[in-house]
Amino acid sequence: MEQNELIALGLRLVQAHAVGAASLDEFSLLGRDWTQLPEVFAPHLTGSTEFFSTHLPYPVGGSLLEVGSGTGVTAVTAALSGCARVVAVDISPAAVCNSLLNAECHRVSDRVRVLESDLFGALAPDERFDAIFWNSNVIYTPAGFAGSGPGDLHGAVFDPGYVLHGRYLREGPDHLAQGGRLLLGFNSLGDTPRLTDLASGQGLRMNCLASAARHSGGTPVEFRLLEFVPRGEG
Ligand SMILES: C[S@@+](CC[C@H](N)C(=O)[O-])C[C@H]1O[C@@H](n2cnc3c(N)ncnc32)[C@H](O)[C@@H]1O
Repeated sequence: MEQNELIALGLRLVQAHAVGAASLDEFSLLGRDWTQLPEVFAPHLTGSTEFFSTHLPYPVGGSLLEVGSGTGVTAVTAALSGCARVVAVDISPAAVCNSLLNAECHRVSDRVRVLESDLFGALAPDERFDAIFWNSNVIYTPAGFAGSGPGDLHGAVFDPGYVLHGRYLREGPDHLAQGGRLLLGFNSLGDTPRLTDLASGQGLRMNCLASAARHSGGTPVEFRLLEFVPRGEG
């Protein structure tokens, strides 16, 4: 798909949030009920949250960092799936509030800590996890794309210049415990060659752990759960 078409698709998704999420304050997913706040990425509008929350290799008894937790579905599901410690971060204050609400509602606040953070910025430098995951804002735009701003819904869909993907791959490994896994929820609307180059620049290569063909906003999309491993390993 051409870049202009991808941007138009992303803008339609942002618009669908403005209409859909404003009128819906609850949804069901993965057999549970969830609160949806306005201005937060809405799992019922695409299948990505459900797909990744289902296929993530949760470190049972261990720790998970979810970057960009949105409504908190994945972070809460992680805690309910046996993770002993979950940290959920998001740059959007509305998403932080939404993740807190859903953690409370599902009674996992004792093991889900929620922080407002730009990627790893609010973590202690030595804070480490058995797995780190981000269902990322996959649509590439040129740097300085006028439509987007951090913390709003554009920031849940677009990554101008793929600056955030670059930082995720550069900074993520510093927060992994020994044997920890760096995971990314990606899809075919993203720029795979650019992501591959960024990974390669960090000495990493990508493995696809799970994929599925679905539709997102009427467009065919392939969801891909990726893992980054040092080149030469596994
Ligand atoms: C595709 S949405 C996924 C939301 C949620 N994990 C889900 O699956 O429903 C991407 C999320 O990343 C968050 N995000 C974007 N840029 C970020 C940044 N620099 N630091 C932390 N979170 C960010 C967005 O606010 C959004 O909640």
